[in-house]
Amino acid sequence: RPFTLFKGPAMTRTTAPFPLTRLRRTRKMESLRGLVRENHLAASDLIWPVFVREGMDDATPIDAMPGVSRLTIDRLVGAATEAYDLGIPAICLFPYIEPDLKTEDCAGAWDNDNLVNRAIRALKDALPDMAVMTDVALDPYNINGHDGFVVDGEIVNDRTVEALVKMAVAQARAGADIIGPSDMMDGRIGAIRRALEAEGYDKVSIMSYAAKYASGFYGPFRDAVGASGALKGDKKTYQMDPANADEALRLVERDLLEGADMVMVKPGMPYLDICRQVKDRFGAPTFAYQVSGEYAMIVAAAQNGWLDRDKVVMESLMCFKRAGCNGILTYFAPEVARALKV
Ligand code: PBG
Repeated sequence: RPFTLFKGPAMTRTTAPFPLTRLRRTRKMESLRGLVRENHLAASDLIWPVFVREGMDDATPIDAMPGVSRLTIDRLVGAATEAYDLGIPAICLFPYIEPDLKTEDCAGAWDNDNLVNRAIRALKDALPDMAVMTDVALDPYNINGHDGFVVDGEIVNDRTVEALVKMAVAQARAGADIIGPSDMMDGRIGAIRRALEAEGYDKVSIMSYAAKYASGFYGPFRDAVGASGALKGDKKTYQMDPANADEALRLVERDLLEGADMVMVKPGMPYLDICRQVKDRFGAPTFAYQVSGEYAMIVAAAQNGWLDRDKVVMESLMCFKRAGCNGILTYFAPEVARALKV
């Protein structure tokens, strides 16, 4: 059978028999590798998650996340300014709430003057062009460490959604640009969207944590926000089973229909197949969250001299671009933006 280049029954052929095709030709030198490179990572792809705490002029290191600290608001503004100057367009805030301030009614979550809302105002004052993203979930405030209210041992959905709506509106009122519901309650995207419209915040975006898995990779984060001591049980009745993929697509579709502007897959690296499927199916702005445990694994191995930190960090982020993501939430954002500058 005669060989025909670029023709085939099912797919376009791009290879001819050796030696017509030597795929190593375009790998010969960096200039050629650059020309054929399919994906690019830029500082503009990055959202930097940060932990905020009360107080002045201080930063508390987080044990399981070497290099990451909880920042007081004044330090946060300084760090954000540096990040924005490095080209990082967005920052995402997570509050550390002292154990004795956690309550069953979680009322601190929608207080206009709570830590996060004060941090949003400080950031928008200092850096109006940097996008500020928030987390909508009750866990930092909840005496049970859960993302929703616990009634008779059950994480209740609809009552939680009412609280999440108040929390999201308070964040929008403080100036948040992107609301990030991470709670996995049903119906919260639609409820938040309707409330934002009703309150006049029609230009506030929602990035839904749409496909969020019940993952072991969140361990260091729960320490960082002071929720690990508080958490009773697990989050399997609201976060997704790691065994499921079709369900992730149903969640993304649902959240887009309810008014999400952007969707997220979380964690990141173990769920690249989900990122790709979400992007291919919906073509919506798709983000991955490289979570605390992914950060901890890379940093720990590098500290032991077992991995080359710079190489692995870059590779770990490029793979999200290859999987179709528009951007990545990563604790490595500042170091990556710095490395991309040189
Ligand atoms: C909770 C929330 C979690 C993360 C972001 N928001 C943890 C959880 O669901 O228990 C994890 C982020 C990380 O691990 O870096 N609403």
